[in-house]
Amino acid sequence: MTPLATIVLVILALVVLAAVMVITSARRSDVRGAGALARETVKRDKSIKAEAGDAPSGSAYESQAIATRTAVLEKATEVAPVVWRAPDQEAVDVSRRQFFNRASIFLVLTGTAAFGASLIAFLWPRAGGGFGSKVNVGRLDDLIAQIRSERGFVYKPEARTWLTTYPADSLPKARLSYGNQGPVLNGMENGLVALYQKCPHLGCRVPECKSSQWFECPCHGSQYDRVGEKKAGPAPRGMDRFGINVSNGNVIVDTGTIFNGPAIGINTTGQEAEGPHCVSGEAKH
Ligand code: FES
Repeated sequence: MTPLATIVLVILALVVLAAVMVITSARRSDVRGAGALARETVKRDKSIKAEAGDAPSGSAYESQAIATRTAVLEKATEVAPVVWRAPDQEAVDVSRRQFFNRASIFLVLTGTAAFGASLIAFLWPRAGGGFGSKVNVGRLDDLIAQIRSERGFVYKPEARTWLTTYPADSLPKARLSYGNQGPVLNGMENGLVALYQKCPHLGCRVPECKSSQWFECPCHGSQYDRVGEKKAGPAPRGMDRFGINVSNGNVIVDTGTIFNGPAIGINTTGQEAEGPHCVSGEAKH
């Protein structure tokens, strides 16, 4: 075969192939192109139409809706405009913000008042007994007997007070040293001393020492004799004390007033330690 014949044959083959492709694609777009319905869909539509019978078509519905929309609208009844009036500020202003403001102020005031009342109640000397008020600690005779039976000391927790006896033969000296503390001297003249339990050095509770018959502070070693006059240690003075009043045989200790203990060097009873000490009397800071 000559080259010319071969070229002609190839061209013919290409032409035939192109024709086949064009015909095939045209058919496909007829069958599956956009908007084309499948055969099953067309069938189902036909069956629905048959079932619906004389029901209005979609276009009929649309026409009816347009007619309804464009029908003459009923005119609204005219209403006279309402004249605006400024609202009542009291009524309007009780808003959430104002409510919270008022509630906050109320709570703060109430809380402050409650706190103030509690503070006053706490600081006010109690009228009904207990520390800070006049405490009835018992009958004078009974107390002196109890002090003797308990070897020199009786503790009254409700008055935070140690009670000890005061020797009658020391009263002349006591009048010189305690003359400016009338209620304290009054107790001594009735044979009693009421000593505050708190150490005048740094405030520890001072216990009695039965062996020495003194008070001896375990914190830093301050020592006081049985009537609270300082004997040793770092304390700046003797034990502080309360006034005593004896009324109808009852001993009333006034814990509302604390009298400073006697200055260092005051020694009205001359009592020395009567036995071993409970703590060392050396100064410890
Ligand atoms: S507190 Fe009593 S000696 Fe220091």
